[in-house]
Amino acid sequence: MTVPHESRHLNRRAFLWGAAASAGAVAVGVPEVLAARTPPATRNPLYIPPAFSPTGFTLTEKPAIVDLGGGKLSKVWAYNSLLPGPTLVARRGDTATIDLYNSLSQPTITHWHGMIVDYLNDGNPRLVIPTNTWYHYAFTISQRAAMNWYHPHPHMMTGEQVAKGLAGAFIVRDNEEDALGLPSGAYEVPLVVRDASFSKSGNMVYRPRSGGFEGKVPLVNGTLNPRLDVDAGQYRFRVLGGSNARIFGLALSNGAHFTLIGNDGGLLETPVEVTQIDLAPGERVDVIVDFRGLTRGSSVMLRDLRAGWDLLQFVGTGTSGDTTWTPPTRLSIIDKLSSPVTTRDFSFDGMSRINGSTYDLDRIDFTVPLGQTELWRFTTAGNAPHPVHVHGASFQVQSRAGGRGRLFPWEAGWKDTVLLEDGETVEILIRFNTFRSLYVIHCHKLEHEDAGMMANFEVV
Ligand code: C2O
Ligand code: CU
Ligand code: CU
Repeated sequence: MTVPHESRHLNRRAFLWGAAASAGAVAVGVPEVLAARTPPATRNPLYIPPAFSPTGFTLTEKPAIVDLGGGKLSKVWAYNSLLPGPTLVARRGDTATIDLYNSLSQPTITHWHGMIVDYLNDGNPRLVIPTNTWYHYAFTISQRAAMNWYHPHPHMMTGEQVAKGLAGAFIVRDNEEDALGLPSGAYEVPLVVRDASFSKSGNMVYRPRSGGFEGKVPLVNGTLNPRLDVDAGQYRFRVLGGSNARIFGLALSNGAHFTLIGNDGGLLETPVEVTQIDLAPGERVDVIVDFRGLTRGSSVMLRDLRAGWDLLQFVGTGTSGDTTWTPPTRLSIIDKLSSPVTTRDFSFDGMSRINGSTYDLDRIDFTVPLGQTELWRFTTAGNAPHPVHVHGASFQVQSRAGGRGRLFPWEAGWKDTVLLEDGETVEILIRFNTFRSLYVIHCHKLEHEDAGMMANFEVV
């Protein structure tokens, strides 16, 4: 199964971009249209990337031209010419065999964010491959159902490669999740939410700032001003914070709640109703939204309260959908980590340092015994937010002091990325169970990571 579905990608969004402009959204020039704060008259159908098994799959990183909606073509960098890349879907127990080909003009390597794999499969920045070469991955998937994701991880170039479009979802399923009968098929929708900026000619550009790149407009699944027609029923949205630096404050325009059922590491213990969710780069949430009352032609907007953006419009079809799913009292059982034997402190300093040091590919900063529960304490002296991400294990967030001073429902269960805002100290419990391997811990604000806010550690 190899892809490139360029033509399909271009054809499936069929409106003329000109229609939005002539309908009076904004009159002059592409950049102004893209930067418009008011919703344009025409919204584009949400793109949903095709799904593939990761067994015997080829991913090529290369420049591509994609349709962002309404015939608005843009030069990007993409996996298999798709923005986002193809959605990989596997079951626990499957073996992923993925051949990565680098057709970029710079070195790259792909990391499977959230997948528990050994060093040679982890996309460590030491493993970059040059232009026109292959990297072969082979790993067994032995972890809980969750939505993970993949993106490049070359040292000092991750920010540019991700901002230009290289990212995709990697969904793992298992029997525990199946038993819940969650909304599925057309009623389960991955949403890769990010921001982007465009040149005058409409091509995706990367304008890094040391404080973090923030794009001028939102993109959901690579679609500008997206719309999704929804049946009157329950939907499951798998949402990824796919920006380089921007944090989203997700909410529904009608004030309705999300039923939060999962996050980075899979299902929560119990469903929780929330009306707002903060989503930092690298974080995921799994939510159910109830559209049973949405009549034909009426609409609800998924909004970002932080930037005041409209992210995705849901428009009712009036057709009856999944009307049977109701939240169970228990979703999963989370084995609680406890009794840490070691405490480690990590200070995320400035825009480029952890505990005073910038990243060195060849330096191993600390070692962690396999199977040992540890308490890791993250602090920041400034220049936050820092979304802190650890490779090689999921962790459990224990506490947050300073700043927001509390934990949020989307920080329960298993996480691999946790948001550290200004003045905050966050404590986690972590245990590496599976591989003796070299991993990294880093800030997932990609400009901080590229500047060196990353450290190597070895599980021994
Ligand atoms: Cu999503 Cu080390 O990265
Ligand atoms: Cu990762
Ligand atoms: Cu940071």
